Amino acid sequence: MLGKIITSFIDLIHSKHDEAFVDDLISSLQLDNDGAYTDFIIYDDDDLFKLTNAYITKTGRCYSDVWKEFGIYSFKSLYEQHGHITKKYTSLLSVMNNLDSSIHPALDLMYDDIRFPQFKVIESNASSTTIAYSSQRNLVDFAEGLIRGCALYFDGDICLSKLDTAIFDEPFNAVFKIDLDEGAQ
Ligand code: HEM
Repeated sequence: MLGKIITSFIDLIHSKHDEAFVDDLISSLQLDNDGAYTDFIIYDDDDLFKLTNAYITKTGRCYSDVWKEFGIYSFKSLYEQHGHITKKYTSLLSVMNNLDSSIHPALDLMYDDIRFPQFKVIESNASSTTIAYSSQRNLVDFAEGLIRGCALYFDGDICLSKLDTAIFDEPFNAVFKIDLDEGAQ
């Protein structure tokens, strides 16, 4: 997992809790690097799952809510940090329709051992897109949060539904139908 994703999670908990809470959480995990992550290095996926699971246990919050909030929170900095790749996509639908063909593949060229989920556009028009997600990691809620974060970033309200169909064989699958609100078109 790219360090940027892990540092975004640590930033999120810093934004909601005091220093003692964050220190306590990180030290309870006995991580090799004591929680000192660098944005542009790839780490074991387990580090992120250890942190998120410990946070969920410590706060008693619902797994799915935490991952969605994390996705919403991290979109902006992920998008802006890789502006040389992302800046030509300036709407939710253009990001979604180019995620699998351009954005994630461009990042794949930048980092060794990075692993992305797969997206497939099923149907798209000016006000709506239906896109399938699949991954070996259980990050469907994170994907939903990123979509919502992207919509907020570009100022649009959306109606987001998860359809009850499976397109891929990977263990974790979802089909998202995104409808733009009039103000977002
Ligand atoms: C709304 C748009 C986006 C969605 C729905 C999305 C979805 C995801 C998801 C769900 C993951 C977690 C990995 C997994 O599921 O297996 C992921 C990973 C990642 N995404 Fe995206 N993404 C979006 C936009 C972007 C953008 C704009 C960037 C930056 C240019 C980006 C960069 C990354 C990176 C660096 C990872 C980590 C992969 C790794 O470390 O192995 N994504 N993306």
